[in-house]
Amino acid sequence: MPAKPKILVTSASGKTGLQVALQLRAKAYPVRAFIRQRDHRSDILERAGAELFVGDQYSLSDMRSAMKGVQRAYQCAPTAPNGLHFSAVFTAATYEAKVEHVVTLSQWLSSVDHPSLFTREVYLGDILIGMRPEMSVTTVNVGWFAENYLMVLGMAAHLGKFTMPLGDGDVKKNAAPSNEDIARVVVGALTDPAHHAGKTYRPTGPTLLSPNEIAEAMGRALGRRVRYADISERMMVKALKALRPANYSEAAVTQLAIYSEEYRRGAFAVNAPTEDVFQVSGHEPEAFESIVRRKVAEQPDLVRSLSRSIGAIGIFLKILTTRPFDLDHAQKQRDYVQLSSASYCQDNAAWTEKHQPKDVQAEPKRVA
Ligand SMILES: NC(=O)c1ccc[n+]([C@@H]2O[C@H](COP(=O)([O-])OP(=O)(O)OC[C@H]3O[C@@H](n4cnc5c(N)ncnc54)[C@H](OP(=O)(O)O)[C@@H]3O)[C@@H](O)[C@H]2O)c1
Repeated sequence: MPAKPKILVTSASGKTGLQVALQLRAKAYPVRAFIRQRDHRSDILERAGAELFVGDQYSLSDMRSAMKGVQRAYQCAPTAPNGLHFSAVFTAATYEAKVEHVVTLSQWLSSVDHPSLFTREVYLGDILIGMRPEMSVTTVNVGWFAENYLMVLGMAAHLGKFTMPLGDGDVKKNAAPSNEDIARVVVGALTDPAHHAGKTYRPTGPTLLSPNEIAEAMGRALGRRVRYADISERMMVKALKALRPANYSEAAVTQLAIYSEEYRRGAFAVNAPTEDVFQVSGHEPEAFESIVRRKVAEQPDLVRSLSRSIGAIGIFLKILTTRPFDLDHAQKQRDYVQLSSASYCQDNAAWTEKHQPKDVQAEPKRVA
């Protein structure tokens, strides 16, 4: 039997990269995991038998070294500035190393004139990676991850509030996939290029949920009542600045504000849910409540106690007293390219035509 191809997983300590590396190891594929530092996540990767490569993903020298002897790769740019630089480095290294097949993590929103610079860079990265005909590519177009909601699970657990700027609580706007399900699709495509080369998949959860339904699912998993509260963009910026979840930079926050606007406009509801998780991996997609239950089981500090409730009130007060920064100013300070005629996805004819099958209604559905 021929040896299994070696697969490079970039961003291997990240939300999807870690799951991709572990699932590949469970199928006995040789995996090289690109990480920037050793920590508890690299311990998990090492225990699973992955080869660790510690380096800088934005450095072409490091990426060249990481690609040596690799036949396939998972391209996952961090949610951070310089995404296009990452894509150029990754693409150049795949060309030089004559990599055979790449699975790239794109965005459901990826479109040519999008207001988000990060998203336009994803769009350009998608073009770059597809330019060498000898290398096949599978594109995984993900919308809003389930993990994003879990950033505020502490507030839900201790204060009974699910606070995000998602607009009307009754409108079903997203069928969020778990990191594990996204990885299942990536792994399906990495391990069977013959079936998946040239295809684009969009992993989603099994059902569209409204913000109120998300709060109810959190409540059931946490064993308490949780209510959704729509917050302003300004309050979101204050919270992200005060707490810096997942180390989001100020630059990343400017883009999250744009993604929240896409959420309120219903862009993630278009053509969702899909069957892609089941069709590629043979697994039924995970329900949001199961994702929350797993998180609750992993995180003992989500169990309610008086001291944790007092701590959560302290965090809430910290958010209230944090000064927000100006989003436009932050983008200008960084010399971000800003288009004079940017368009959100559903205002862009090319995006709408590409993303909306004729038999699917674009309008977000209301809870009956
Ligand atoms: N979140 C969403 O809702 C959403 C939706 C659609 C698409 N996406 C796409 O998802 C991608 C992000 O995927 P993800 O969430 O799986 O990744 P992630 O959790 O953001 O992980 C990125 C990883 O890259 C590592 N990293 C950062 N800079 C590095 C460097 N210079 N050298 C080496 N490693 C470095 C980070 O390491 P440390 O952890 O050690 O800092 C982190 O583990 C983005 O391209 C985004 O466009 C996200």
